[in-house]
Amino acid sequence: MSVGIDEISFYTSSYYLDLRTLAERQGTDPNKYYDGIGQEKMAMAAHDEDIVTLAANAALPIVERIGTDAISTILFATETGIDQSKAAGVYVHRLLGLNSRCRVVELKHACYSATAAVQMACALVARNPSKQVLVIASDVARYDLDSPGEATQGCGAVAMLIKANPRVLEIEPESGTHTEDVMDFWRPNYRTTALVDGKYSTKIYLTSLKRSWENFCEESAVRYGDIDYFCYHLPFGKMAQKAHSQLARVNKTGQTPEELAAQIEPTLIYNRLIGNCYTASMYIGLCSLLEQLNEDLTDKRIGLFSYGSGSVSEFFTAKVVSGYQSALNTVRHAELLKDRTELSYEEYLTLYRYPDPRDGGQHVIEPDTQGRFRLAAISDHKREYVER
Ligand code: CAA
Repeated sequence: MSVGIDEISFYTSSYYLDLRTLAERQGTDPNKYYDGIGQEKMAMAAHDEDIVTLAANAALPIVERIGTDAISTILFATETGIDQSKAAGVYVHRLLGLNSRCRVVELKHACYSATAAVQMACALVARNPSKQVLVIASDVARYDLDSPGEATQGCGAVAMLIKANPRVLEIEPESGTHTEDVMDFWRPNYRTTALVDGKYSTKIYLTSLKRSWENFCEESAVRYGDIDYFCYHLPFGKMAQKAHSQLARVNKTGQTPEELAAQIEPTLIYNRLIGNCYTASMYIGLCSLLEQLNEDLTDKRIGLFSYGSGSVSEFFTAKVVSGYQSALNTVRHAELLKDRTELSYEEYLTLYRYPDPRDGGQHVIEPDTQGRFRLAAISDHKREYVER
């Protein structure tokens, strides 16, 4: 029996800022963003969107297909939790009308926790193959204005149905992991934006890749040459290029720059238009590969590298299942990205600075999002979500 991803669906806000607009305001060369970091646009959440509404919108097509009683567990991964106690997935559970027997829990470790969730989901299914687990990764990436990280913001959510004999990807059981206590990117409870030592974080990312790969080679018989495509965590597109060059160097592959690019470029297309979504980024990259590559990927092996600052990382592999194309949400994703609205710099600032009330008063939030679900109010410190 194989276990893996049966369906994968993502959602992002209908607003974006073009990084040329940001560059103009900052007096920066736009090529620094377009070429230097490999990003064009960054998604900005509407004022009535957050990790819950993004997540519910991402999971909606899956639940509409399989029904509200079919999911046994929701594992909700996020860096941008909205509550220190209550799991955000419980709101999603209600919005989607799921059965009360479905358990829900939230997982945290920076951008890595979605991969922990996927591995835990696979273990739950391996123990009881009749179960179907919904993994959701949802984040709103925020850095300080005028900081080097500002151009690498974004927002989005991915929902993945993990089950036995999946239709899209069989996840292979071996993986290589690396954990190290470092301060490269973190967000104390009292902050809404991340603190980051940018250059150091890219260095730690690359070291973690090397260590995870070494551990993977101890655990698995799969070698570099057995892997066709590579999906890396995508804080920005250029990071994948740095990572893939490093992995090729470690393995002394002697590949040309063109050969290296061909193994990662299809994974970068969506992220370039959405920006960093922390936990969801690598899995949006996976959607990009499966949906945008004009080639049948059946039986191809994909290497996935998940990195969460702080730091925990994991390298694992998966094989594409025959007929996977019919299980994808390609058209829906294309429409989502096509129908977005570009923001002016002033509109971006208004969304960025939109009040986050903390006084316990009654705060009604005007409708704005194009998604099915929205945050309608924050009253008595309680968040109220509704269907639009
Ligand atoms: N035309 C073309 N390229 C240009 C250029 C121009 N006019 N100007 C600069 N560039 C290039 C630079 O040469 C550089 O390329 P290399 O990295 O290949 O040398 C690139 O553009 C970036 O330029 P800088 O290094 O000067 O950029 P910066 O210091 O202002 O910021 C950053 C870069 C540190 C990554 C910053 O975006 C940042 O802090 N981001 C947030 C942290 C982050 O994403 N870290 C990644 C690892 S941690 C992680 O993965 C977890 C997570 O999700 C956050």
